[in-house]
Amino acid sequence: MARVDEIAPDVYRISTYAKSFNLQFCQFLIVDDEPLIYHAGMRRMFDGMRDAVAQIIDPSTVRWIGFSHFEADESGALNEWLELAPQAEPMCSIVGAEVNVNDFSSRKARGLADGETFETGRFRWRFFHTPQVPHGWDAGHLFEETQGLLLCSDVLGHDGDVPAITEDDVVELMRGQLTSYRGTPFDDYMPYTPHTTGHIERLAHLEPRVCATMHGSTVRGDGATALRTMDRMLREEFGPPE
Ligand SMILES: [Fe+2]
Ligand SMILES: [Fe+2]
Repeated sequence: MARVDEIAPDVYRISTYAKSFNLQFCQFLIVDDEPLIYHAGMRRMFDGMRDAVAQIIDPSTVRWIGFSHFEADESGALNEWLELAPQAEPMCSIVGAEVNVNDFSSRKARGLADGETFETGRFRWRFFHTPQVPHGWDAGHLFEETQGLLLCSDVLGHDGDVPAITEDDVVELMRGQLTSYRGTPFDDYMPYTPHTTGHIERLAHLEPRVCATMHGSTVRGDGATALRTMDRMLREEFGPPE
């Protein structure tokens, strides 16, 4: 059974710990006039996630299924959600919609342009297209302006069966995760490109107060510092030689 924690008013973190990966997989439910789920999750985790959502709202009322990039933990159970929730539509970047989702999905996606804004009721959202941050040319992030909530996908991700929320630095944990992949087929999980710092800086400039990562504790506090510290770590570990 997935674990449910309210990490900000009407924002629920639904976490499943996968022991074999020593990794949490989190989805987020944002309860508003138009309920939004961020990360459809893997197909094999769908039943647990649906039951967790049902503790809070009727899952068939979900309106939007958003995600950063096309990948099993982000979008695997998309069609299961669309079948369960007849009003639901996928939501992702234009690249994500046109390259993957509109072929994979049983319903067409709403493709968001960089900087596009929308409301789900009282919450106001802005979309940022951030190719290759964390990975994939379709990658993007949603920011909710009234609560300073950044739905940040694999950004600030870290291993372990950790608490739902932390105010501590997670960047060293993230460094440990990324460097542990060296020499394995999973290396280059998060590339450092000439555009990485610029994308991260745009997110840091928002000064998020809650950074809701897919893998690990939601980071509450000074999101700008956390993101800039992460950028420095990525450059140190994966950037060009100084
Ligand atoms: Fe990913
Ligand atoms: Fe992920």
